[in-house]
Amino acid sequence: MLKTTLSNALDTRDEYKRIVDMTRDAILSSFSDDTAYSGVDPLKLRKDINEITLIDELGLGFDETLKLIEEKVMKNLLRTWSKSYMPHLHSPALLESLSAEMIISAFNDSLDSWDQGPAATEVEVMVVKGLLDLFGYDREKGDGAFTSGGSQSNMSAIIAARDKFIQKKFNHDVKLNGLPKGADKLILYTSEISHFSMDKSAHILGLGYNAVRHLKVNDKCQIDIDAFEKQIEKDVKDGYMPFMAVATLGSTDYGSIDDCAKMREITERYGMHLHLDAAYGSALVLSSKHKEKLGPVSQADSITIDFHKMFLLPISCSAILFKNKNDFEPFNLHADYLNREEDEEEGYINLVSKGIQTTRRFDALKVLFSFKARGRKEFEEIIEKSIGNASYCYNVLKCDGSFYVPIMPEISTVTFAHLNGDDSNRKIRKELLKEGIVIGQTKMNDKVMLKLTLLNPNIEKSDLDSLIQRIKELA
Ligand SMILES: Cc1ncc(COP(=O)(O)O)c(C=O)c1O
Repeated sequence: MLKTTLSNALDTRDEYKRIVDMTRDAILSSFSDDTAYSGVDPLKLRKDINEITLIDELGLGFDETLKLIEEKVMKNLLRTWSKSYMPHLHSPALLESLSAEMIISAFNDSLDSWDQGPAATEVEVMVVKGLLDLFGYDREKGDGAFTSGGSQSNMSAIIAARDKFIQKKFNHDVKLNGLPKGADKLILYTSEISHFSMDKSAHILGLGYNAVRHLKVNDKCQIDIDAFEKQIEKDVKDGYMPFMAVATLGSTDYGSIDDCAKMREITERYGMHLHLDAAYGSALVLSSKHKEKLGPVSQADSITIDFHKMFLLPISCSAILFKNKNDFEPFNLHADYLNREEDEEEGYINLVSKGIQTTRRFDALKVLFSFKARGRKEFEEIIEKSIGNASYCYNVLKCDGSFYVPIMPEISTVTFAHLNGDDSNRKIRKELLKEGIVIGQTKMNDKVMLKLTLLNPNIEKSDLDSLIQRIKELA
């Protein structure tokens, strides 16, 4: 008989063990050095990969296929665990979360209906309740769901805010009738350095990029509160309808944190939904030393939490929390084959009613597994190590005299430029890449900036000293 899927048959169980062992060995032998990338140039990599044919009449079998993948793919995969990888909010995965991933993919439960993931559903509900507690929301009044990432969590908040506002202001049901006449006056406020998922969502949700006001930031890269208030006043005078504001708790390029207390005051006055994009900064909730930096998060209407950033869990793993569970209403739709209305009456929970996706991974297990395995204390240590590294790096760069370092890091991102100028900074990043060191590049006021996003807790101060030295040599 063909060995196809997991089963109770003895030979299948043996084959599963063999496959897992071989895969683990292949992964471990793929990193012979500590670099983040092999350094192969993009054209050579593309050529090598394109030599693989997708499907042949006869398959190679597991052993030969693994060898091919090792040779052509794994050798050149990015090694996120490397101490030389620090460009993005893209983390290495905690060891125990790799065990959780094995469980998730082996069982392949799905979170759309209870009968596709009985324990998975109950675990997600339980994890969400714990998250509501952690962020100070009422666990009975609030609710949450896992999503594919921060972009989808942000979009979910915008959908909820848009529909709620239109229902109230226009007495119009967006679910049934689409956008009403006049919806082109809806305005969302966020900073000029907020994540571009706000603009993408505005387009996809029929509001358009022009519905997003990108507010100026102050010298700490936080929304300028006066500018925010003045812009709302002007917009209202001009006939626009402010419906939502998004505070970024941990901006992508600087880790800066908007003042959500002041933003709450203003949004409250105008009857607006306040969303916190805490995709990056949410991890601070586990640090007694840095938690306060986030401000009064429980006052906001919704929060994006990304576990695949500073919590160091494998992609994908994100959640959206709403203070008021009714905000999930836009996602609720019944299908006879999936989430029958009578199911709920009988006590079955079908989580498809709380999201954009239908089939959905059991990502909540990774949160439960790692939280239980490490406890808050150990997460705190990890988070504080990264924040300490960023602070150290900022001070070294600042004292050196060869660098422009405009922003003191609130979290774990250091953004800087060598004084030799844009071309030199671009070349530094590319040369480092050839050496297997991957750092970030962005722009600030049109100036090319280099960026270190320090999420990896294995990075030591001495690693940062060596990197800064190498950057100076290249400059
Ligand atoms: C502040 C912020 N929000 C949202 C996102 C989007 O998250 P994701 O990549 O998980 O969709 C990012 C990504 O870096 C981010 O930095």
